[in-house]
Amino acid sequence: MKFKKNIIKIAVDGFSSCGKSTLAKDLAAELGFIYIDSGAMYRAITLYSIRKGFFEDQNLNSVELIRSLNQVNIDFLTDENSNLITLLNGENVESDIRSLSVSSKVSIISSVPEVRKKMVELQRQMSSKKSVVMDGRDIGTVVFPDADIKFFVTADIETRAKRRFLELVEKGQNPNFEEVKKNLTERDFLDQNRKDSPLVKAPDAILIDNTNLNRKEQLELALYYITKTLC
Ligand code: DC
Repeated sequence: MKFKKNIIKIAVDGFSSCGKSTLAKDLAAELGFIYIDSGAMYRAITLYSIRKGFFEDQNLNSVELIRSLNQVNIDFLTDENSNLITLLNGENVESDIRSLSVSSKVSIISSVPEVRKKMVELQRQMSSKKSVVMDGRDIGTVVFPDADIKFFVTADIETRAKRRFLELVEKGQNPNFEEVKKNLTERDFLDQNRKDSPLVKAPDAILIDNTNLNRKEQLELALYYITKTLC
């Protein structure tokens, strides 16, 4: 594909487990861009906070967290099978950050403005010199309001819960379907209602509802818009 510009930024936002990471990864592979999973970064800080004992049940000691933010280093590497691996202070935490215990606390961590400020800085640094596809909740609205193209992905809640449930089963976990669905519903609510950078469709984002689309169809639809807009 030949683009009008050298460096392209593609923003993919949407609800939890709506398939936005799959779309973002597929687009990055197809276009030869780097892929950045911004949700993994919030998950890594959540894991750090759990390990450090910053939580007492669902109550976060945000003062302690904010004080230790400069000791948290998050990075990515790609393994031999082209999978993205999240590193927390150099440790591979890719599996740990997908657990339900992290999922149930990540919305609390991601509502702390100081955490968001640090993540947004890191996200912009990671993509300053290369074409990227980044997925998350605030990419088209806050991280890259000037993205070259923005997608907002959605699917109905039953479909999303089934997808996340199967993903956890494939990873060898033993999830409970109702718990998975409840976690998604809660995160949707918290992500949409937090004060700092709530999940909202950017006015110029293209809506993709993939409830009835398979992986290939959603990729083809996004590529159609990319070709039409950027080539
Ligand atoms: O994409 P994910 O489900 O792995 O994201 C985990 C959580 O991180 C999600 O519930 C909200 C938060 N998040 C965020 O606030 N902003 C982003 N750009 C990405 C994720």
